[in-house]
Amino acid sequence: MVKAVVAGAAGGIGQPLSLLLKLSPYVDELALYDVVNSPGVAADLSHISTTGPVKGYLAKDEAGLKGALTGADIVVIPAGIPRKPGMTRDDLFKINAGIVQNIIEGIAQYAPKAFILIISNPVNSTVPIAAEVLKKHNVFDPKRLFGVTTLDSVRADTFTAEVSSIKDPKSVHVPVVGGHSGETIVPLLSLTTPNVSIQGETRDKLVNRIQFGGDEVVKAKDGAGSATLSMAYAGFLFAEAVLKGAKGEAATAAAYIHLDGVTGGSEIKQKVGVDYFAVPVTFGPEGAVKAENILTKANEYEQQLLKVAIDGLKGNISKGVDFVANPP
Ligand code: NAI
Repeated sequence: MVKAVVAGAAGGIGQPLSLLLKLSPYVDELALYDVVNSPGVAADLSHISTTGPVKGYLAKDEAGLKGALTGADIVVIPAGIPRKPGMTRDDLFKINAGIVQNIIEGIAQYAPKAFILIISNPVNSTVPIAAEVLKKHNVFDPKRLFGVTTLDSVRADTFTAEVSSIKDPKSVHVPVVGGHSGETIVPLLSLTTPNVSIQGETRDKLVNRIQFGGDEVVKAKDGAGSATLSMAYAGFLFAEAVLKGAKGEAATAAAYIHLDGVTGGSEIKQKVGVDYFAVPVTFGPEGAVKAENILTKANEYEQQLLKVAIDGLKGNISKGVDFVANPP
């Protein structure tokens, strides 16, 4: 029996993500947590004729976070504020850092063995925050903590198919590594399957679109938020990959992980010199069982992109670590 929790379930991402999880054969029970409206979303979803109960929990209620998290196998976290036009993901840090910290404190207490999937931005910093909180409670397991970067992979596949006139974007796979914001997002177009040849200005434009694709949505929504539906789809793909692995089925996806403690991770850490990096991960019953070192296969152009990404990540990571070490 798999109990899935969505923290931030009443939001733009939370609602469609909860819907998709309600439809998933890999989820048997759903707990929806938020500061507002989660009982309403739960009541709505509970009328869908798929198996498994759905229950809503409000932060202010007695059952609250404890009730939602107790017995959880997987917790997906899209809680927090999204971007408005002109904002970077880092601008969200002030508010979202505390929100993520609070939810992780609950997980450390009530569901220390759960797989934790962090969607709340800035992912480059919120994942280190989560790790530091879990370390404080002596329950940190790098194999079970993931920053969700799947939307970058989904965008890369879609945009690359578009540029290459490939009809079905699902048949395209572009490995995307690094982090989840602007120049820390590094698509390795040279390792795309099937092989594509995109060069010069077309390549530069494509890379830029993958790195800053989120801005297109923020701009189009004109103040009403950032990507929600495509993010719910991406978050769902990632959650299912983790749950498939947990069941012993073959599953891989890119994720932003702490490189120590995951097989193959220390080799990657030697190359990148930072603790956290998004790389292709293979999932198993314990979570991340292997991190694939594809960085050495990147071409010269991509090695330059990697350098810029690593520089950006250094600051993002230490900002998250400092937040827990020296609370504001
Ligand atoms: P939203 O504002 O529509 O929803 C956020 C939800 O979180 C709201 O229902 C709110 O009540 C809830 N919330 C706020 N504080 C909470 C707390 N302390 N405990 C529980 N719930 C709380 O925002 P949206 O569009 O759903 O985005 C959520 C987050 O996901 C943002 O930080 C956004 O930047 C991020 N995001 C991440 C992406 C990724 O690729 N990883 C892509 C798109 C967005």
